[in-house]
Amino acid sequence: MTYQVTARRWRPQIFDEVIGQEHVVQTLKNAIEQNRLAQAYLFSGTRGVGKTTTARILAKSLNCAEGVSVSPCGKCDRCTEIIEGNSIDVMEIDGASNNSVDDIRELRENVKYAPAKSRFKIYIIDEVHMLSKSAFNALLKTLEEPPNHIKFIFATTEENKIPETVSSRCQCFEFCYISYKDIIFQLKKISGSDGITIGDESLAVIAKTAEGSMRDAESILDQVVSFAGKEIKRDDIASILGLVGFDNIATFMDKIFEKKPTPLLELFQELVFQGQDFRLFLKELMEYARNLIVLKVSKESKKLISLSSEEIDRLKGQAEKVFLDELHQIFKIISAVELEVKRSSYPVMLVEMALIRLTEIRPFQSIDNIIKSLSQIGKEIESNETDKASKIKEEAPRYENVNDNDSSGDMEKIWERIKIKTKEKRNHLGMFLDSSELVSITDNTVEISFSDRFTLALIQKDENKKILSTTVEEVLNKKIKLLLRETSGRNKKEEEKNEKKSKKQEQTGGIDKEIVQNALNIFGGEVIREE
Ligand SMILES: Nc1ncnc2c1ncn2[C@@H]1O[C@H](COP(=O)(O)OP(=O)(O)O)[C@@H](O)[C@H]1O
Ligand SMILES: [Mg+2]
Ligand SMILES: [Zn+2]
Repeated sequence: MTYQVTARRWRPQIFDEVIGQEHVVQTLKNAIEQNRLAQAYLFSGTRGVGKTTTARILAKSLNCAEGVSVSPCGKCDRCTEIIEGNSIDVMEIDGASNNSVDDIRELRENVKYAPAKSRFKIYIIDEVHMLSKSAFNALLKTLEEPPNHIKFIFATTEENKIPETVSSRCQCFEFCYISYKDIIFQLKKISGSDGITIGDESLAVIAKTAEGSMRDAESILDQVVSFAGKEIKRDDIASILGLVGFDNIATFMDKIFEKKPTPLLELFQELVFQGQDFRLFLKELMEYARNLIVLKVSKESKKLISLSSEEIDRLKGQAEKVFLDELHQIFKIISAVELEVKRSSYPVMLVEMALIRLTEIRPFQSIDNIIKSLSQIGKEIESNETDKASKIKEEAPRYENVNDNDSSGDMEKIWERIKIKTKEKRNHLGMFLDSSELVSITDNTVEISFSDRFTLALIQKDENKKILSTTVEEVLNKKIKLLLRETSGRNKKEEEKNEKKSKKQEQTGGIDKEIVQNALNIFGGEVIREE
């Protein structure tokens, strides 16, 4: 028996074998059963999804010697001729090569004649969008009044190129991309029955590369088998498909995460020398980043990532080292350059610059993290200042010459020293003292008042209070008890009152009554005359 490619051997022969086009199949089956068939059909969809296959099954259903049926026998002359493509009543015309007006005129001539030996004369015109404008016009005449024995089945991969006048006279069916799952399922069935050993991950790689086309998936399987025999390893797939392969991409990612542009560029240069397809390489990088992201956000990694468990383990190791947002940035950069590469005359440089950019990615920080790190920095600065202060003390003790016994000495000077020393230890604490006041120094207490209760609360914190009291003790050279209070409201009022009073005195130049009264109280006596 001569060798037949998988796609042909596995062409579905009945409706129920057509995968992933249930909406089309069911409608056609209903129409056949209810005898409500249209005269012209338009099948649209990408390559290798079952358009020609379905057209032939429909042709068999209509012309089978055993009668119109949803399950043609497949054995009668008419059926086998259709299967082999040599039925005189079922004409398969390639629109790409028979696209002239003359071709269509000839078709119109033939349409007139009844079928030679079947019920219907069926024209399957593939790639119908390739017909010239005048050919379409010629076709339209036939479509307007087709004889009853005629059926048209048009197929196209570019529905948008079909004139409205034509598509409006057809019953239109859109064929879907075959799902990834369906492709893997079918490939498993095929490899199982053909005695091919191939792992799930390899099937997944093929399915992904096929991008929704069952025929492409089957052709890739053929290529791999002719390259590697019936025992297929993962690397075989990578070589056949011209892929860089998981291990190499993983190494690229390692270099990206290590932020090492030089080895990264060297690795890329090797690929360039080997004549690697950049788009495939970028696609693999993108997919790798996608898998890392999925791994980070989902617990269902086994379901969502089609890699072996060892490969997933390697991904996990890498995923731990990076933040999610870094991975999103990586994905974005790669997908952007993938688009640019298609349009550019200098793809190598574009990819190189993108690779460098990938090593420069830094994680975005959440507001929470920024606040946390800022407060951390604050703490570090403070502790540095404390260090600095103690160093200064060791290196140049500025207050050595202060006569610390002089606690009864000039309050202002002492207060000044306390403030300076505190600032050296902890700058911001010292700053708060600037708006405060040294109220009193007694033998064993020092009282300081603060302008408001917030500053007071801050200074009263254990750590701050300790710093302040040791500083005061150092300046005074003795143990003291530190009393902290808020500059009281009453005192403030009194101050204001006093201020007003003295102003008034200045203005009037007279003696204040209150002072007089106080003097009378202290010395006893009475006012003899007021002037
Ligand atoms: N829906 C499908 N179910 C099963 N196999 C399919 C399907 N679509 C395509 N194939 C496989 O691909 C081959 C080509 O399919 P075909 O119908 O010619 O695609 P097209 O949509 O390009 O006309 C078939 O022989 C079959 O092996
Ligand atoms: Mg086709
Ligand atoms: Zn038959």
